Amino acid sequence: MKNFKYYAPTKVVFGKDSELSVAELIKDFGGNKVLLHYGGKSAEKSGLLNKIENCLQNAGIEYVKLGGVVPNPRLSMVRTGIEICKKENIDFLLAVGGGSVIDSCKAISSGRFFDGDVWDLYLKKTRAEKYLPIGCVLTIPAAGSEMSDGSVITNEEGWLKKDYCVDDFRCKFAIMNPELTYTLPAWQTSCGVTDMMMHTFERYFSKDDDMEITNSIAEALLRTVMSEAHKVLKNPTDYNSRAQIMWAGSLAHNDLTGCGTTGDWATHCLEHELSGLFDVSHGAGLAAIWGSWARYCRCENMKQFARFAVNVMQVNNVGSDEELAELGIRAMEEFFHSIGMPTNIKELIGRDITDEEIELMADKCSDGGTSTIGGLKVLTKNDMISIYKMAR
Ligand code: NZQ
Ligand code: ZN
Repeated sequence: MKNFKYYAPTKVVFGKDSELSVAELIKDFGGNKVLLHYGGKSAEKSGLLNKIENCLQNAGIEYVKLGGVVPNPRLSMVRTGIEICKKENIDFLLAVGGGSVIDSCKAISSGRFFDGDVWDLYLKKTRAEKYLPIGCVLTIPAAGSEMSDGSVITNEEGWLKKDYCVDDFRCKFAIMNPELTYTLPAWQTSCGVTDMMMHTFERYFSKDDDMEITNSIAEALLRTVMSEAHKVLKNPTDYNSRAQIMWAGSLAHNDLTGCGTTGDWATHCLEHELSGLFDVSHGAGLAAIWGSWARYCRCENMKQFARFAVNVMQVNNVGSDEELAELGIRAMEEFFHSIGMPTNIKELIGRDITDEEIELMADKCSDGGTSTIGGLKVLTKNDMISIYKMAR
């Protein structure tokens, strides 16, 4: 097993009515004036926003509201948030929503005390030194941003989608009440399930094969999420299933399933170009590309793909590693279809993708052919083009 560091400092408050502890938690972490950041309509419609505002008012915590974060959160909103924080002397950021709202908060946090342009942080030209603290009330289990160190932002100028990762981005607290996810449309539930599975895959399919505890945790997580997903799609108010999925989403991306592995992350890099260019849901984009990535890269660790087929997809353990690997990938694609996810780009965007669009995505993904992605197999721009073509 490789040496590793594991850092998961977020205080998790999980379960029914957990959102009622929001004011106390903000105070515990030193917040006096809060930016209350949220998305489109869902938190207003469900009454959650109102509930949070009441909690803040009753505790005498001042706040300024900034709603309207869209999926694939935009840089322009981040800039607005930074201005508000400076003008209003905000000292704590509260995200009420999913990965997009939390990521927008993280970007605002990094830009608050930074003298330069916040986008330069995402271009990895430099790093910020001081950050505003963040807490969140999670409404969709998916991106895992509530416990991760990452933030992914889309710059409308050129539709560039980039990430910036730093431990200061880890939320001080994450409030998770599975009941808050009852209102999720089936599509969003499935996108979320796909994303958390993929966060596990990105760590599971790596070059190292000697981390049994990590492998076993990952496999249990994947099996649980798959069986609970079908239950939740049949019965969206099944508390127990919603709870399993919600906790799995955090565990899939707080690095627990990656201890002692190098990880891959190529599927995520390839997907960020898809959602950057076509503004599709991140989870669906991952489902559309994964099978092609897996077939292109499985030779690098066929044994692990065969193990996945048997231990996760319950494929009969008969045949060569290569045969088992293919059966496992096929079974995974069948699962994606069973929860309404696409397994190629045409199903994702509703039309054929052009060669020019593939070239553009590969070019952005490889910084004009100068950088590579992937840990299992290192992928150059030409490899990226091949995978996009396999997935078209
Ligand atoms: O805007 P509202 O009206 O709230 O609607 C949202 C949105 O349309 C809706 N929704 C959320 N909670 C709901 C609800 N609808 C009904 N009831 C509820 N309880 O769901 C839609 C999607 O929300 P979003 O926050 O975009 O979803 P998700 O959590 O999947 O976040 C996706 C973003 O996270 C990034 C993705 O790239 C994407 O931009 N990621 C962030 C990561 C990180 N920070 O560590 C890692 C991931 O790999 C990912 O890249
Ligand atoms: Zn993801």
